Amino acid sequence: MASVDHVSPLGNISVEAFLRDYWQKKPLLIRQAFTDFENPLSADELAGLSLEDEVESRIVLEHGERPWELRRGPFTEDDYRSLPEQDWTLLVQAVDQFVPDVADLMKAFSFLPSWRLDDVMISYATPGGSVGPHYDNYDVFLLQGEGHRRWKLGQRCDAESPLLDNPDLKILSEFEQQEEWVLAPGDMLYIPPGLAHYGIAEDECMTYSIGFRAPSHHEVLVHYTDFLGQHLSEQQRYSDAGQPVPVNPAEIDDAAVDRLREILLEAANDKTALAIWFGRFMTEPRYPELLQPMPQEPGELAQLLSQGYGLVRNPSARLAYRVEGDQVVLFASGEHCVLPASLLPLVQLVCNEDYLDAEHLLQWQTDTEGWTLLEQLLDKGDLLPEGDDEE
Ligand code: SIN
Ligand code: CO
Repeated sequence: MASVDHVSPLGNISVEAFLRDYWQKKPLLIRQAFTDFENPLSADELAGLSLEDEVESRIVLEHGERPWELRRGPFTEDDYRSLPEQDWTLLVQAVDQFVPDVADLMKAFSFLPSWRLDDVMISYATPGGSVGPHYDNYDVFLLQGEGHRRWKLGQRCDAESPLLDNPDLKILSEFEQQEEWVLAPGDMLYIPPGLAHYGIAEDECMTYSIGFRAPSHHEVLVHYTDFLGQHLSEQQRYSDAGQPVPVNPAEIDDAAVDRLREILLEAANDKTALAIWFGRFMTEPRYPELLQPMPQEPGELAQLLSQGYGLVRNPSARLAYRVEGDQVVLFASGEHCVLPASLLPLVQLVCNEDYLDAEHLLQWQTDTEGWTLLEQLLDKGDLLPEGDDEE
C-alpha cells in the first residue's frame, strides 16, 4: 500500500504535540526546521518567473506612489530597473506548480491532509522590505530561505480589526506587538489564522510561505447548495399537505418554518453528497488552464510504459480520495469518479506519489477499470508522461 513518510520539520516537537497544542491555535518558532537548508530557487529565478504571463506575482513598495503601493505582474525587466534600492518585496504565488524542487518542500508537511495544502508563495525582499502588518485567514508556515527577516507577532484579529485606508492591501492600522524574532535560513515560523504578523527584511531575503486552504462557511453553504441544486427537479417544492385552517392567514407560523428546515436538514444529512462536493471543491485547481486535456491514442499508455517511461503528476493537478462503503471515490482537479474498492491501492499510489514508475503501473494492465482510470487521468492532463513536465 502506498504511504507517505517524511521527516517532520517541527524540530523537537512531535507532530502529535504540534497538532494538539499549536495547529490553528498558537504560533510556533522552529529554529533550523530544515537543517542545512539549500535554497531551491535564486532571487533572479524568482524574478524571472514574475515575467511570465501564467504566473501570479505582486510587488509591494512601502514608499511608492502612495504608502504600501501594490503593483501586479507580470513584470518586465524595465519594471525592475525602476525600483528603489530598498523597502520593496516581490511575491510570487504557487511557485510549487512551476519549480519541482519547491513542490518537494510540501512533502515535509505530510502530517496534514494533502488536500488542505494550497501553495508555496515565495517572497524576495530588499532590506527594509515588508508587506506591512496584517493577518491572514489561513494557516501559514513561513520558512526563511535566504537572508534574514525580523518577524513581529501581534494581536488576534477578525473582520472588525481596524485597517489602513488602502484600496489594495489589508494593512492593520494598529499592531500590538507580543513577540519578535529574527529568522535565518532554515528557520520556520508557524502562524495560525487571524494572528497579526509583520515581517521586515533585515537584508536581502527570501521567505517561503507554505499556505493552506480552508473553505469559508459562506463557500460551504453557497457552493454545496448550488451543487445539490443541480440534481433537484422543479417538482420538488415546499409542500404543506394536510395543514390546518390558518387562524391568521398572513402569519408565517412555526410549522411553515419547520417544513423548510426539513428541506435543509435532508440536504445536510446526505453525507455522501456532502463528501463528494467537498472532495471536488478541495481539489479544484488554482490554475485550470495549466491542466490541458491530452487525448491519448489507443495503446499509447501501454507503449509508453513498456518503453520504461513512467507517469508524473501534473504539478497543477490536485488529487484526493475517499472510501465510501465498498467503493472508492477519486477526486481529481475538481471532478470525481466512483471506482470499485479493489482499485484503492492504485488510487493511493496516484494520490500520494508524484512519480509513478512503469513497472508498478504495468501490473494494472490486466485490470480493465484500473487501466481505464490511468488512461482517463492522462487524457484529462492530471497525469503526464514522464519528460512532458520538463519544458
Ligand atoms: C512575506 O513573505 O513577505 C509575507 C508573507 C506573509 O506575511 O504571509
Ligand atoms: Co501573512
